[in-house]
Amino acid sequence: MHTDDIIKVALDLVGMSELPVDSAVYVHGENINNILYGIDIGVAELLYAKEQGFDCVIAHHPVGLVNHFQVFQRHLDQLISKGVTIETAQKVIDKKMMGFKFGSHARNYDAIPSFARLIRMPFLNIHCPSDELGRRLITESIEKLEEQDENPLLHEVRTHLETSFLEFREAKTKIEVAKGNESDSLGNWIFSHGAFTNGGFPIADCYYQYDVDTVIYIHIAPVELSQILNLNYGQLLITGHLASDSIGINPFLDRLEERGIQITAIGGLIR
Ligand SMILES: [Fe+2]
Ligand SMILES: [Fe+2]
Repeated sequence: MHTDDIIKVALDLVGMSELPVDSAVYVHGENINNILYGIDIGVAELLYAKEQGFDCVIAHHPVGLVNHFQVFQRHLDQLISKGVTIETAQKVIDKKMMGFKFGSHARNYDAIPSFARLIRMPFLNIHCPSDELGRRLITESIEKLEEQDENPLLHEVRTHLETSFLEFREAKTKIEVAKGNESDSLGNWIFSHGAFTNGGFPIADCYYQYDVDTVIYIHIAPVELSQILNLNYGQLLITGHLASDSIGINPFLDRLEERGIQITAIGGLIR
């Protein structure tokens, strides 16, 4: 396989036609049969892969991009789907994106890709397509639960997700009710994911303002969580970073294996 074929496998799973800006091929390669995959990849993993004779290394999280934060714009469609006006949604998104932009100015974006080029190790990362697949799979799973039980309780949602996905059962983190009570109803909900990173406080609050009872994130920063906890409304469910990322990644690795590619998974992937 060529690195372009690998990209196509990931894109086809979600019907995307081109790679979003948080995903990239840093070093192209061909005749790839043996892949080292990690949610996070650094220079040590690249060097190990070279020494061990891997043909290609794939990361989930972006490692050398400056415009990757623009994928945060994908929060717009999710916010609109819950009735938030375009103007309000865009305002909240823009403010967050400004912070991400200058965060990316601070980073050494070429540290890892330059090393991959130096040792001529084919290397790419696929972020948004996998997260979007995970968003769909987890959303569909909760919708299925609602078909049996119109308004499940938060602990029933957790049990259902754990029953449905090996990744949640195997993870060292557990699905947590971060705000609200286990016995509260799920109510009107959104699984907010697949848009670079979670929306933190402002996007959660935006949902609450538009009558969403439960926001579901895969992770949240402590500062943003404390802001949400200060509100006297809104529920927050946190599903866990590695487990939730793995749910969107595993079907992609399965497709590669079906095509005869050998996958070695490290770096936090639950498989
Ligand atoms: Fe992810
Ligand atoms: Fe992630």
